Amino acid sequence: MNYRRLGKSGLPISALSYGSWVTFSTQLAVDAALETMTAAYDAGINFFDNAEVYALGQSETIMGQALQRAGWRRDTYIVSSKVIWGSVPDPKPTQRGLHRKHVFEACHDALRRLQVDYLDLYFCHRYDPNVPMEELVRTMTDLVHQGKVLYWGTSEWTPSQIMEAYGVAREYGLVPPTMEQPEYNMFRRDRVEVELAPLYEKMGLGTTIWSPLYYGVLTGKYNDGIPDESRATLPGYEWMREIIESDEGHSRLDKVRELTRVAKDLDTSTTRLALAWCLKNPHVSTVILGASRVEQLRDNLQALDVVPRITNDVMAAIDEILGNKPKPPESF
Ligand SMILES: NC(=O)c1ccc[n+]([C@@H]2O[C@H](COP(=O)([O-])OP(=O)(O)OC[C@H]3O[C@@H](n4cnc5c(N)ncnc54)[C@H](OP(=O)(O)O)[C@@H]3O)[C@@H](O)[C@H]2O)c1
Repeated sequence: MNYRRLGKSGLPISALSYGSWVTFSTQLAVDAALETMTAAYDAGINFFDNAEVYALGQSETIMGQALQRAGWRRDTYIVSSKVIWGSVPDPKPTQRGLHRKHVFEACHDALRRLQVDYLDLYFCHRYDPNVPMEELVRTMTDLVHQGKVLYWGTSEWTPSQIMEAYGVAREYGLVPPTMEQPEYNMFRRDRVEVELAPLYEKMGLGTTIWSPLYYGVLTGKYNDGIPDESRATLPGYEWMREIIESDEGHSRLDKVRELTRVAKDLDTSTTRLALAWCLKNPHVSTVILGASRVEQLRDNLQALDVVPRITNDVMAAIDEILGNKPKPPESF
């Protein structure tokens, strides 16, 4: 494993990390969760990602039980939660959003379910237009001062929303956001490669990127149809089937097939190539894996060995296949 700094913070975060979005509760109960987390931890992964909304709190509960059973020292791992959607079905207005009340209560609920005294990372899972930025930044600052959160950040915020938070923090002497959690994979490049680019320098923004395999499509497992027991067959994930079976989905699968040739030339798999491609971006602080079983996790860890094999020529061949390389900004 290698470790990167989370933006300009001093926090060493493993280049690969492990998240529990679809998997914990829906696919993995506590024994299997402990098995995958242990395989991750033993390989040097130090960051486990979670959110209040994942399986409506169950995902945090399972991760908390696994952490207890693992018995790892608290100073050896980083754990996160995210707030906005709430953790109950049909939340009332006080039970969701980024107002002071819900952010405080969601943080306390996450601490209880994860069985930890503090969250290393706490994310605003989306932007909430109903909450004044000063209220949110003050709330996050209070949580930091109370020792309940070490670093706070955002997920899928626009650059101007992040800069607004940063500006408010600077104006009132509050704690600014440290990291953003954007989707980043071979099919979704613009946010990380173009839109957020000025913020890496300006504010030292770190990124914890999600869905590096585009929900599993970049493994190649959907190339010949939708296999049993894959994410696209899970109840509630019918949208994924629609994505795969759309015209755009078919054209993406054609690209995945072509990427398989590149992977073969490098003596690796499409999965590892797709993960290594994300790791190649120096503005990515950590790539959050989402394995639904321990074999997948072990397989994905080997992406680390593929990174040095992605030369400029290989990058160019991948760009040619994907056809979505963002243009560099115009300079004057
Ligand atoms: N901030 C946000 O809004 C946000 C949104 C989404 C995710 N996230 C975070 O990012 C994490 C990762 O996202 P993700 O799960 O969508 O990541 P992903 O890497 O795009 O997809 C992971 C899924 O691909 C399949 N897979 C992975 N490795 C495989 C392998 N070697 N062989 C075959 N299939 C394989 C598995 O699905 P099946 O086996 O079930 O097919 C696995 O659950 C989440 O757990 C969460 O922590 C954050």
